[in-house]
Amino acid sequence: MNRPYIFCHMEVSVDGKIIRKFMGTPEGKKSGKLFYDLAFGENPHYRHQGWLSGRTTTDDNFTKYQKPDLDKDAPTVPEGDFVVDTDLDKYYVSVDPSGKLGWTSNVLKYQDTKAHVLEVLTKKASNEYKAMLRKLNISYIIAGKDKLDYNVVVQKLKELFHIDNLMLGGGGVLNWSFIQAGLCDEVSIVISPSADGSADAPSLFETKEGLSDDTPVSFSLKDVEAKEDGCVWLRYLVNYK
Ligand SMILES: NC(=O)c1ccc[n+]([C@@H]2O[C@H](COP(=O)([O-])OP(=O)(O)OC[C@H]3O[C@@H](n4cnc5c(N)ncnc54)[C@H](OP(=O)(O)O)[C@@H]3O)[C@@H](O)[C@H]2O)c1
Repeated sequence: MNRPYIFCHMEVSVDGKIIRKFMGTPEGKKSGKLFYDLAFGENPHYRHQGWLSGRTTTDDNFTKYQKPDLDKDAPTVPEGDFVVDTDLDKYYVSVDPSGKLGWTSNVLKYQDTKAHVLEVLTKKASNEYKAMLRKLNISYIIAGKDKLDYNVVVQKLKELFHIDNLMLGGGGVLNWSFIQAGLCDEVSIVISPSADGSADAPSLFETKEGLSDDTPVSFSLKDVEAKEDGCVWLRYLVNYK
């Protein structure tokens, strides 16, 4: 299949959680910087053209659960994908199958990184939602009828947007669904020397009914680096039969 190389890159606590108070500790801030530098810094280890995020991650960090500004009288948009030219060198690839996210701009800023927003929809997304994206000049692709068609997603990212290296950037639900679909080559984990024991925080991988199950997956160690400040950078290849 013609698809990008896909690596999952995440920061976790010692107990494998991906959000909550541990991130605000001095140790959590250091591991956060290492996480950012490895994939977005000035001289990054991973040179990617886009990162993929789940709908919850986007709402938590960027769109903040705002309702999309929809025009019920919007004219019918043309069938198919909407590809916008951009001067930016990165895409923020937002998995939003139903079209829920309340975007207000086609450019997203993540620390020092600017990225063009690219929505991944299914045919469930409404005409009004697609009309809103067009009005904002936000690119979108349609991948699947009711459920995400993973192969279509990754093929379109490569062929329409020239993404050769794609970061699978969380949260846990998105990560696990791509791993279960056989679409993750490498896992890069920055372990922060901190934890907060939160019982309800998602972990690195999460099953979700209807999207993924608990079929086990194994990994082969690629590399491990112990950093002076107590962070560990672990890399695995995903074993597929
Ligand atoms: N520590 C880190 O490095 C890091 C990195 C990224 C994110 N995070 C954190 O992770 C948290 C969220 O994680 P999460 O696991 O709860 O949620 P998530 O993976 O961000 O989002 C889950 C949602 O995304 C959509 N989705 C994901 N995979 C899909 C698939 N295969 N098919 C169809 N839809 C799919 C669904 O949206 P619908 O519900 O609309 O159907 C699903 O409910 C956030 O708080 C974020 O800050 C941490």
